[in-house]
Amino acid sequence: MSVQALMDFIDRSPSPYHAAAQAAELLEKAGFSPLTEHQKWELTPGHGYYVTRNQSSLIAFRLPARKPESWRLAAAHSDSPTFAVKNDKLEGDKTYLRLAVEGYGGMNCASWQDRPLTVAGRVLVATETGAESRRVYLDRDLLTIPSLAIHMQRDVNKGHEYNPQRDMQPLYGLMGSKSLTDLLAEELGVEKETLLSWDLVLCPRQKPVLLGAEAELFQAPRIDDLGCAWAGLEGLISAKGQETAGQVYCLFDNEEVGSGTRQGALSTFLPDVLERIACCLSMDAQEKRMALAGSMLLSADNGHAVHPNFGEKSDPANKVYPNRGVVVKYSANQKYTTNALTAGVFKAICQKAGVPVQTFANRADEPGGSTLGNLLGQQVSIPMVDIGMAQLAMHAAVETAGSHDPDYLAQACAAFYESSLSVEGDGRYSF
Ligand code: CO
Repeated sequence: MSVQALMDFIDRSPSPYHAAAQAAELLEKAGFSPLTEHQKWELTPGHGYYVTRNQSSLIAFRLPARKPESWRLAAAHSDSPTFAVKNDKLEGDKTYLRLAVEGYGGMNCASWQDRPLTVAGRVLVATETGAESRRVYLDRDLLTIPSLAIHMQRDVNKGHEYNPQRDMQPLYGLMGSKSLTDLLAEELGVEKETLLSWDLVLCPRQKPVLLGAEAELFQAPRIDDLGCAWAGLEGLISAKGQETAGQVYCLFDNEEVGSGTRQGALSTFLPDVLERIACCLSMDAQEKRMALAGSMLLSADNGHAVHPNFGEKSDPANKVYPNRGVVVKYSANQKYTTNALTAGVFKAICQKAGVPVQTFANRADEPGGSTLGNLLGQQVSIPMVDIGMAQLAMHAAVETAGSHDPDYLAQACAAFYESSLSVEGDGRYSF
């Protein structure tokens, strides 16, 4: 079952750096070749490649057999709401040691308390000739953020305001313990003096699990958005190559904090990659623009399934549920890029492939969330449709979704990558 493959992907991706590395590993297994941004590219038609930026974002592409006349693209994000570790100044009273953290993105604070946590990310290690960034995951139950006992806050079940500085600092241990730097150095097998700096985040220790009477649900950390990250990748890897359409997969970091970083969806990463491909394949200025105009992108990020206890929170006419297929997301104020053209084409492709589709829109009195497609569109103006899996408990430390939906989404992405979609005129398509 594909859900098992997704659960493995999530388990091996405790940080965006690990998610990008996991994607790279799966791509290499499938025959894609690595490129680096700072070296010259030489590309062979028909072959697949990938490139990373900041070790936390990745773009993969499979070139068509002939000069590209259009692109089929899908994009998802590698990051999830969490807490970033500030430094190794363990502070506390004379007995307790706490790590100093600050929030990353908008998480449900209560769900992060009273569960085993650890840290993952990357560490810059000094070498004989310079420095090297190494991924690190302390694969052990290391930390917890203890809640305050109900006896000391009798009204806690009537609502609680979480202050990240007061409520959400993780307990590391008791005075006299080894420092976090000690643990990282041990894990990496280096002297602790060689650790120059780090980007570390907290991650819940819960393993992804199947749930429900028929295992029809699964629960895991980071389903938003590693569910879509995995499905898009699986779609690209399993799709057959094209004659004239290039197939592109984007995994962007920093969606949860607005995408405005060097490796986020608002960066020049995608246009830079497309420009370099065009340069290698001798596409002239007209051909590059013709290809963009003939392209389409799936912006893949999860949507809210109807909550079993809060049905009224969903729009009565646009309810989506686990295992009812790929969610197509609409927003009149264009937080989602979906429009009649892109949704229609995507639905038709799914229908042909036998993949069920359901429609999501927020209640008219709820602003809803935003995602990466509309921001990416500011850098690369191509037609897009916002899609995803239906899930519960979005941005909680562990989230829940349907066991069949990862398969549906991967099939939809593969069908999209393989489709013979071509633009015949403004608003006219053949596929
Ligand atoms: Co998301």
